[in-house]
Amino acid sequence: MVHVAILGFGTVGSGVAEVLTQNGGLIDRRVDDLVRLKYILDVREFPGSPYADCFVKDFSVIEQDPEIDIVVETIGGATIALDFTTRALKAGKSVVTSNKELVATHGYELLNLAREHGCSYLFEASVGGGIPILRPLTSCLAANELTQVTGILNGTTNYILTRMIRSGLTFDQALKEAQDNGYAEKDPTADVDGHDACRKICILAALAFGRHVYPDQVPTQGIRGVTLEDVAYADSVGYKIKLLGRAIRQPQGKVCAYVAPHLVPGENPLAGVEDVFNAIAVTGNAIGDVMFYGRGAGKLPTASAVVADVIDIAKDLKKDRHNGWEEGAPDLVVSSDILSSPWYVRAQCTADQARLACGEIHLLARAGAPAGEAAFLTPPMTEPQIRDRLQGMEVGSLFRVLA
Ligand code: NDP
Ligand code: HSE
Repeated sequence: MVHVAILGFGTVGSGVAEVLTQNGGLIDRRVDDLVRLKYILDVREFPGSPYADCFVKDFSVIEQDPEIDIVVETIGGATIALDFTTRALKAGKSVVTSNKELVATHGYELLNLAREHGCSYLFEASVGGGIPILRPLTSCLAANELTQVTGILNGTTNYILTRMIRSGLTFDQALKEAQDNGYAEKDPTADVDGHDACRKICILAALAFGRHVYPDQVPTQGIRGVTLEDVAYADSVGYKIKLLGRAIRQPQGKVCAYVAPHLVPGENPLAGVEDVFNAIAVTGNAIGDVMFYGRGAGKLPTASAVVADVIDIAKDLKKDRHNGWEEGAPDLVVSSDILSSPWYVRAQCTADQARLACGEIHLLARAGAPAGEAAFLTPPMTEPQIRDRLQGMEVGSLFRVLA
């Protein structure tokens, strides 16, 4: 029998318990053994829970129980979760997590610790919620040199943008809905300001390019600067505004990675990704372009990915999964200033001033635009070049266009 403990009985942890219980029969058949939930650790009380017999308050009960093979960490954050994960791995128990903050900040050391102690550290649910992306990246695409990963990586912000655009909700109303649906982080500024997407692009970059990329190396901009005026201008040419995380292989093993809102042309499949859905486009030198799509957050989709990792480990508890990467370095990540792209600009200026500054621009229009406001798309150039050209102009918004 394989015994499982869940740490943190919130949105994801409770979903994991539900999937393990509801799909227990098929999970046992697929593992060819009995997989049983033995403990749930949480700081809160859950009176009347069907799992009442499982609840404990002291992690050492789990740590010291030789029957526990797999610990599911769904507490979140990088403090207590780091302590519990470290102790579980040191006790030879495999750990499965959805906690991208912990993987992005301590993944390198935790993967090494797992290997040292003959167990596994798996985190499929940490990127893209229920979307199978990490295992396909490292196994199905293993024949490729991967050159680029670009994704809509945060369900909450994609949900907010979609609800604001399609249903006219205010930012606060849309965020409240995302929270009520269990999509948002405990501190939703991590979603809104792009830090969650940043952690996910770090994990994708590490797996795609083989070295740890730390969140503080990745310039990150969230969606606070996106206005409904920008959405209307983008819409006038069939573009959508999306928060993208990007990681692009550079010469000498370096990586260019960043998170920022982009204008995405309507013909790009990323433009049609709405609500809580995420999509991750990967480019490899053999496969060309491939895209992964699905629900990027939420209780059961995320639990689906967590339990898949539990099943993988339960099938062979001592298998060396070699799913790690090399150490990072301070000079690994190069600035996105090197990337040339068209830009979307909304500024206080005339069309002639915009042309004078930026050359062959494409002017955009929207109903109700005030006099003195111009919005336009520029020819491709780098960020330092566009900033230089816009000097002295009162700029409202400046976003890259995904070329
Ligand atoms: P929740 O806040 O819903 O769940 C976390 C649970 O852990 C809460 O019940 C919390 O209690 C409990 N907890 C806090 N501290 C401790 C502790 N010291 N010991 C035991 N339990 C504790 O978070 P989510 O389920 O939404 O997220 C969990 C992780 O999964 C996070 O890393 C998140 O980023 C990630 N994730 C979330 C997704 C989602 O859709 N929600 C999707 C993919 C990943 P209390 O509430 O009292 O603090
Ligand atoms: N808060 C995250 C999101 C959860 O909205 O994408 C999934 O990682």
